[in-house]
Amino acid sequence: MVEFRKVSKKYANGTLALNKIDLHINKGEFAFVVGPSGSGKSTLVKLVLKEENPTEGEVYVNGYDISSLKRREVPYLRRSIGIVFQDFRLLPNKTVYENVEFAMQITESLPKEIRRQVPMSLGLVGLSKKADAYPNQLSGGEQQRVALARALVNNPSLLIADEPTGNLDPETSWEIMKLMTEINYRGTTVIVATHEKSIVNSMKKRVIAIDKGQIIRDEEKGQYENEVKNSQIYS
Ligand SMILES: Nc1ncnc2c1ncn2[C@@H]1O[C@H](COP(=O)(O)OP(=O)(O)OP(=O)(O)O)[C@@H](O)[C@H]1O
Ligand SMILES: [Mg+2]
Repeated sequence: MVEFRKVSKKYANGTLALNKIDLHINKGEFAFVVGPSGSGKSTLVKLVLKEENPTEGEVYVNGYDISSLKRREVPYLRRSIGIVFQDFRLLPNKTVYENVEFAMQITESLPKEIRRQVPMSLGLVGLSKKADAYPNQLSGGEQQRVALARALVNNPSLLIADEPTGNLDPETSWEIMKLMTEINYRGTTVIVATHEKSIVNSMKKRVIAIDKGQIIRDEEKGQYENEVKNSQIYS
């Protein structure tokens, strides 16, 4: 589903954000990508979405070889991935329903399918009653649930979230994580980049830990341990 082979990413200013990463995430998995600020989590997410290209190595996502993907083929890749960000990124002038609907309009779905899928997706995140509200009338958690509904409305095989709970209080963060677990149980592969230790540690999922652009640990039912901080304390 997602494979990195000896992937490095050096930005134009010379920053080496990822350094020879090897990674394999199978269909149906739930994986956290953890690490301190600046370790390369968002860069990894951007490579999966082909928002950035690797400087070295190969990235495969949903059967697409990212490096050789033509510009006109990128929409097909993005259509197969649902994306959620820390800052929700909803359109303020559209209602909840319209925000989710919009994700289907840009993929040129049939009206009949839109009328079926949008209510289903809003139901899945428990927001059917808020369909006519505007984003600024919603709490942060509700806004993130709209973003989740929008990410799922095209039935993606992969859901990728970059700090999805970064702007939410602990209780609301839990709700969002529970929803993502449910989505995973329904068959969607889920990748969550985060530095929320308490959530990662109590969820007992695969944990891929990166530091300074390298994978330093990759464990099933892993823990988010802060080796870097500890080594600084004891050195
Ligand atoms: N567009 C860019 N140009 C140059 N350097 C960049 C760019 N984007 C990120 N970087 C650098 O690459 C490194 C990794 O950044 P990245 O955003 O992937 O980290 P992160 O793990 O997501 O951090 P955070 O937890 O703060 O979101 C950092 O040193 C960052 O400053
Ligand atoms: Mg980041």
